[in-house]
Amino acid sequence: MGWHYKFVLTLISLVLFVKNCAPRVVENENKDAFVPKAQYTNYHDLKDLFDDLQRTYPDLARVYAIGKSVEGRDLLVLQITENVHEEHELRPSFKYVANMHGDESVGRQLVIYLAQYLLMNYGKDDRVTKLVNITDIHLMPSLNPDGFEKSNVGCESKEKFVGRNNVKGVDLNRDFPDQFGRDSRTESGTYKSHEPETMSLMKWIMKNQFVLSGNLHGGALVASYPYDDSSTGKECCVESLSPDDAVFKHLAHTYASRHASMRLGNACPPDNFTGGVTNGADWYAVQGGMQDYNYVRAGCFEVTLELSCCKYPPADELPSYWRDNKEPMLKYIEQTHLGVKGYVLNENGEPIEGAYVRVAGINHLQQTNKHGVYWRLLMPGEYSLYANAYGYPARSVKITVPELQFGEAPVVNVSLVPRDQVEHDRKTRHDIDGISAGDFVHHNYEAMEQFLKNLTQEYKDITKLSSIGKSVEGRELYVLEVTKDPGSHLPGKPEFKYVANMHGNEVLGRELLLLLAKYLCQQYKYGDKRIQGLLNTTRIHLMPSMNPDGYERSRVGDYSSARGRANAHNIDLNRNFPDQFGPTKDNQTPEPETLAVMNWSLATPFVLSANLHGGALVANFPYDGNPEMDSGHAYLTPDNPVFVHLAHVYADAHLKMHLGQSCKSLPDEKFANGITNGAEWYVLAGGMQDWNYLHTNDMELTLELGCHKFPPSDDLPTYWEDNREALIEFIEQVHRGVRGFVHSHIGHALANATIAVSGNPRAVRTAALGDYWRLLRPGSYNVTASKYG
Ligand SMILES: *[C@@H]1O[C@H](CO)[C@@H](O)[C@H](O)[C@H]1NC(C)=O
Ligand SMILES: *[C@@H]1O[C@H](CO)[C@@H](O)[C@H](O)[C@H]1NC(C)=O
Ligand SMILES: *[C@@H]1O[C@H](CO)[C@@H](O)[C@H](O)[C@H]1NC(C)=O
Ligand SMILES: *[C@@H]1O[C@H](CO)[C@@H](O)[C@H](O)[C@H]1NC(C)=O
Ligand SMILES: *[C@@H]1O[C@H](CO)[C@@H](O)[C@H](O)[C@H]1NC(C)=O
Ligand SMILES: *[C@@H]1O[C@H](CO)[C@@H](O)[C@H](O)[C@H]1NC(C)=O
Ligand SMILES: *[C@@H]1O[C@H](CO)[C@@H](O)[C@H](O)[C@H]1NC(C)=O
Ligand SMILES: *[C@@H]1O[C@H](CO)[C@@H](O)[C@H](O)[C@H]1NC(C)=O
Repeated sequence: MGWHYKFVLTLISLVLFVKNCAPRVVENENKDAFVPKAQYTNYHDLKDLFDDLQRTYPDLARVYAIGKSVEGRDLLVLQITENVHEEHELRPSFKYVANMHGDESVGRQLVIYLAQYLLMNYGKDDRVTKLVNITDIHLMPSLNPDGFEKSNVGCESKEKFVGRNNVKGVDLNRDFPDQFGRDSRTESGTYKSHEPETMSLMKWIMKNQFVLSGNLHGGALVASYPYDDSSTGKECCVESLSPDDAVFKHLAHTYASRHASMRLGNACPPDNFTGGVTNGADWYAVQGGMQDYNYVRAGCFEVTLELSCCKYPPADELPSYWRDNKEPMLKYIEQTHLGVKGYVLNENGEPIEGAYVRVAGINHLQQTNKHGVYWRLLMPGEYSLYANAYGYPARSVKITVPELQFGEAPVVNVSLVPRDQVEHDRKTRHDIDGISAGDFVHHNYEAMEQFLKNLTQEYKDITKLSSIGKSVEGRELYVLEVTKDPGSHLPGKPEFKYVANMHGNEVLGRELLLLLAKYLCQQYKYGDKRIQGLLNTTRIHLMPSMNPDGYERSRVGDYSSARGRANAHNIDLNRNFPDQFGPTKDNQTPEPETLAVMNWSLATPFVLSANLHGGALVANFPYDGNPEMDSGHAYLTPDNPVFVHLAHVYADAHLKMHLGQSCKSLPDEKFANGITNGAEWYVLAGGMQDWNYLHTNDMELTLELGCHKFPPSDDLPTYWEDNREALIEFIEQVHRGVRGFVHSHIGHALANATIAVSGNPRAVRTAALGDYWRLLRPGSYNVTASKYG
């Protein structure tokens, strides 16, 4: 915008220039009833203007304040929508919030222009009329009116940043709770220490369920999309993508590509943003920003729009800013109608408030509002949409999101059936996910053996059953491989394992692995592309029972006892592994089951695994021990970000785990987002998870799959539906990070070479064919391969 600034300065009669010329450059000038005034509207005039608009357009406009600034100014909002005084349950809400940095003034004035433009053209211009008819638009010119009153015209004022912060000196765009816990204010866990402006805004977005929002700033020309912060703690240059990245990129491009100078990406030297868009954290990290808060905590999609190189340009330039931004601003609001919306209803057709809605493959939850309505912005395509609510198990519906033709999103209602009813229906139901009702039963040793043999008989090409040893009482320790070309390690194909029922009375994992095995085989045969891709590229090992002797001692209905937990020597196998802090009374002598698993784990280059337990509902990550052997103190591995990510993958994809609700046997035990560090929960020595991490290349989680250790078989279908997606998404994680081969200079594969990642003391080693895998979070790393000689 620099050229324009100089150009305007050479003009003598600026106001005349604007008045005479501005309307001429606006397209469809004959239609546009609004002419922008080349003047900033200060706080006092803004109140009057909004009151005037409300008086003139009583059915379309309503003024309200969401709270007060530190100096007592109202935080004003003008709501604009057709028949503004009535509730329109399915009409989505949109907001523009500007001027949270008081000296970034362009957005503030553009929002004021937009309010006038929409109201003056309603009933005259079809597009505006329709937009106002179908969208509940909230316009907030200033979140920081105190700062604005103190700031002055100028691009880089001498006293830098005058008016940027609120009057207590707090940058409001650093004052929100940070998703990575990197804001200083949330330690108390309350809202109390936030600034009044921030508090008011948080309450506002928690109360109104906004679907889409723009946060208008200045000082650059770019559309910056989430996340603004990353888990790395780095100040910049870390691309930190949200689960809805496709939608966010689309939203950012919607704005930037229609803006004559933003789309160039280099209008404010030295910035150079391809296409005029950027990921927030890739540009620079904002900790405690409003954008991430909107998406993470309130389900509102927000993009930060930087509208001017100069933060507070002279008023004469305002009409040209309006000209550049009018179309992007309108087009952006229209995106509120991208995706689907609808009601979540109960068995009587009544709306359910607070129901959860999620889309398979996207780890982000929306909740229904008080009318039982949800909105889900989505790119065109086909999806499975899930809804569940307290007392109502998840129900999925297939949806098709059409290309956005400007108009309302299609309505997709989801009717939920209460749990009791589901359980009743299940008895008469034939199958779930193609698995017959008869398979949802408990399998004792003989039945399990038969089930596994049947399956390998039917799916010879993609299964192999073997035993890695025998239990104390001589039962086989079965492992079923499910993969294309089973039987051996293939170069470049990663190995994954699930081990279940190590505690004999924790039986959910055992049954879920049998169901998973059948599901994978059937879907492969039916041509499910996702499952085919997974089995073609991954060697999956399923061990339904590590403790078949204990299982035979346990009994149906056991909620939380220890009967059948240990093996036939009465040893707890999850205390029987060698421990990093030395021997204990439980791990002096390895049991046959432990030896077999260790032997197998060392002989196979496993990359990722999980140990399936029961009696709680949480994804537990290493370490399980700490040096003091003192519960309640987290003890973290050098790969903690990867482990936290893996735990979130399971918990988020599980239909209930992420909710962090407690089990009825332990009402005070709650896990935020359904994940925990092992030692922080309770310490144990001799566990399998820590051993895997310390002695093999494998990264293992301990997944507690349900409160009830040995639930009645009627509950198995629900447990299957709760876990199916999580079980699969977790396996898919084996393909994250970096992988490759190590060869000598003449091309020989080098086995047992060390692969080290800079800054991380844990190295992995190459397998027999020189292949390796290293799970890592997105980012840049220096990776070193070495071998003696
Ligand atoms: C907008 O709503 C009004 C009142 O409900 C209606 O008369 C008008 O036809 C609608 N116009 C458009 C373009 O949707
Ligand atoms: C901006 O970036 C593009 C590619 O990202 C590059 O081709 C171009 O030379 C850069 N321009 C400047 C002025 O740095
Ligand atoms: C969705 O449910 C609402 C509320 O019961 C109802 O008015 C509407 O007709 C339903 N729409 C569809 C498409 O089923
Ligand atoms: C195994 O297959 C046989 C023959 O198809 C069937 O009768 C039996 O119920 C199956 N057993 C299990 C445990 O799936
Ligand atoms: C998996 O491999 C099979 C057999 O080679 C092939 O027919 C199928 O197309 C593959 N599927 C995918 C999704 O890769
Ligand atoms: C360990 O595994 C090897 C094959 O990898 C097998 O020959 C051996 O018997 C196993 N030992 C034990 C104790 O299970
Ligand atoms: C791999 O190399 C390490 C030393 O770097 C050695 O201690 C270990 O025994 C080797 N493992 C195998 C399987 O050769
Ligand atoms: C990788 O190594 C280079 C050269 O030593 C260094 O400049 C760079 O910062 C390192 N990068 C990372 C991500 O560690």
